[in-house]
Amino acid sequence: MNYITLNDGNKLPAVGFGVFMIPADGSTYNAVLKALNVGYRHIDTAAAYFNEAEVGKAVRDSGISREEIFVTSKLWLQDYGYEAAKKGIDTSLSKLGLDYIDLYLLHQPYGDVAGAWKALEEAKAEGKIKSIGVSNMTPKLYTELTADFATKPAVNQVECNPLFQQKALREVLAKDDVKLEAWYPLGHGDKSLLENPAITALAEKYGKNAGQIILRFEVQEGFIVLPKSTNPERIKGNIDIFDFALTDEEMDSIRALDTGKGSHDPEAPGVGEMLLNHYKIHD
Ligand code: A2P
Repeated sequence: MNYITLNDGNKLPAVGFGVFMIPADGSTYNAVLKALNVGYRHIDTAAAYFNEAEVGKAVRDSGISREEIFVTSKLWLQDYGYEAAKKGIDTSLSKLGLDYIDLYLLHQPYGDVAGAWKALEEAKAEGKIKSIGVSNMTPKLYTELTADFATKPAVNQVECNPLFQQKALREVLAKDDVKLEAWYPLGHGDKSLLENPAITALAEKYGKNAGQIILRFEVQEGFIVLPKSTNPERIKGNIDIFDFALTDEEMDSIRALDTGKGSHDPEAPGVGEMLLNHYKIHD
């Protein structure tokens, strides 16, 4: 496994296991235990995934020492603003049942971002959170919203895959040494990506599946990736990408697939309100 060093000195595994949409009916607990069992050491959840409690229980029950597992969670929009964020952080800690969270993100770039960020900075100073970051920030939103932050974010978690390579954003983030974390790193199963000849030819050459080629490309580009799978073989395979390397020409052939467009536009009018109405994590 490759490790990435963040701008605050902390390290995390380049491939993480994401639990978005996994129900909190025992499925998240089982999935996380399985992921840890096959070698994942990085789990990505969020208050708005409604499954922090099962993630924390699986981490605690795994028999693996806490320091070896990197746990990310995220503050939901309902808890933005300084006072609400302080409570939101404590709620995440208590649901996870952990003494600290490795990485805590502002899940969405709307509302009182500055107040919420101040609460994250304080929680970091208190040791409740080791690293802090943001999510879903476009170049414009990142530039506007983080200008006055005393602490630069360690990561920005955004949609990113070979069809949407976030080139403009990467230039902006590089100035602050902010690492890009990729959600939908496999294009969310988009066949035009997974069955693209540029990808399938490399899969054949290296004896890997299409997803592994895409993830390898992304890790070689320096991204932290959070692939989603419910298939045990693919879950296992998605961290088995460190025994081969793509050549410069092969990297270029995948770089050429960029369309510059993703499925989600954080700057679209009304997105913040829509998300707030859609995910209610408490009254
Ligand atoms: P499955 O759950 O059957 O493995 P993303 O992480 O971009 O949201 O993509 C998730 C989608 O990609 C799911 O449909 C998942 O299906 C599929 N997937 C996950 N890993 C691989 C892989 N290694 N190769 C091909 N498809 C994959």
